Amino acid sequence: MTIRSKIAGTGSCVPEQVLTNKDLESMIDTSDEWITTRTGIRQRHIAPQGQNNSDLAAEASMAALSMAGVDASELDLIIVGTLTPDMPMPSVACLVQRRLGATNAGAFDVAATCSGFLYSLSIADKFIKEDPSRKILAIGSEVLSRRTNWDDRTTCVLFADGAGAAVVTGSQDESGILSTCLHADGSVWDLLTIRGLGTAYPVDQELLSKGWQYIEMKGKDVFKHAVKALESVAHESMAKAGWSNDDLDLLIAHQANIRILDFLRERLNLPKEKVFINIDKYGNTSAASIPIALDEANRSGKLKKGDNVLLISFGGGFTWAGVTMRW
Ligand code: ACO
Repeated sequence: MTIRSKIAGTGSCVPEQVLTNKDLESMIDTSDEWITTRTGIRQRHIAPQGQNNSDLAAEASMAALSMAGVDASELDLIIVGTLTPDMPMPSVACLVQRRLGATNAGAFDVAATCSGFLYSLSIADKFIKEDPSRKILAIGSEVLSRRTNWDDRTTCVLFADGAGAAVVTGSQDESGILSTCLHADGSVWDLLTIRGLGTAYPVDQELLSKGWQYIEMKGKDVFKHAVKALESVAHESMAKAGWSNDDLDLLIAHQANIRILDFLRERLNLPKEKVFINIDKYGNTSAASIPIALDEANRSGKLKKGDNVLLISFGGGFTWAGVTMRW
């Protein structure tokens, strides 16, 4: 019998505070009309000082554990995809491990930007295939608002905060992950980067005045790479699962831009109801966007047992990934 991993529970958490496009109109030279038509975003959630990445990740995890009926003490591994950890050391995963009291779990972060959740889920899949009795938390969590330059209208309208989590266990039936595809291309790393706050440059006045503590993005170039990579990994993932486009019940793609999602819908010849969209409510939450969407789709009843689901992501690095699963 084929050993498969499956998602046994999902959870998500976003900060209470909502920042609308109208709010942004009073902060920078922009308009609700520009943001909505160019990105599809209408509002986003922003964490106040004191609420950190690990807080959001822990909340999302507790909801996922509760749905799965799994106690934190049963967890073998916690994997967090993130580009905005609370601090360089320890990892967000270790802080979540402490908050949950998951005393039997190993814990580490995955640095794969917006693909962080799918990279984490793919790693979880391999650990479960080795031992299907394992229970693993795969998380995507970000506080991008603190790496956003609020004077830069080309980026600050896009990024936001939130977390999503999935409990991954062995599957007892036909449900579960069918294929995983991971890709990267570091040759164009500087199209989307946070240059400072690593060890390459001293954190001094010069770095801060250049704004290297913030996200820099060449939006048009990233857009072109994103649509190409996402379409390609969608085909690759479905081919590996033995699916044609018609077999797909729901596409959950990284929520970066409504125009990217519309492009994918056209290229994959999918009806509107098969493409999940919540970018209007949450903006781009990087690694958190897919698990938040997955949790919403799950809790709203949009995902039904036996559905064929495709998850695809693209982000800085570049990294891109695809996962197919039978729900
Ligand atoms: N409000 C009003 N005008 C604006 C704003 C704004 N917020 N931002 C830019 N503009 C202006 C620009 O200055 C420009 O004006 P100009 O023509 O006078 O020079 C004009 O609008 C058009 O700007 P573009 O950058 O060409 O706009 P574009 O249509 O490319 O949209 C966007 C920009 C939304 C960023 C788009 O390029 C995009 O979505 N890129 C991909 C993002 C993505 O997929 N990221 C990957 C994942 S994210 C991650 O890894 C963390």
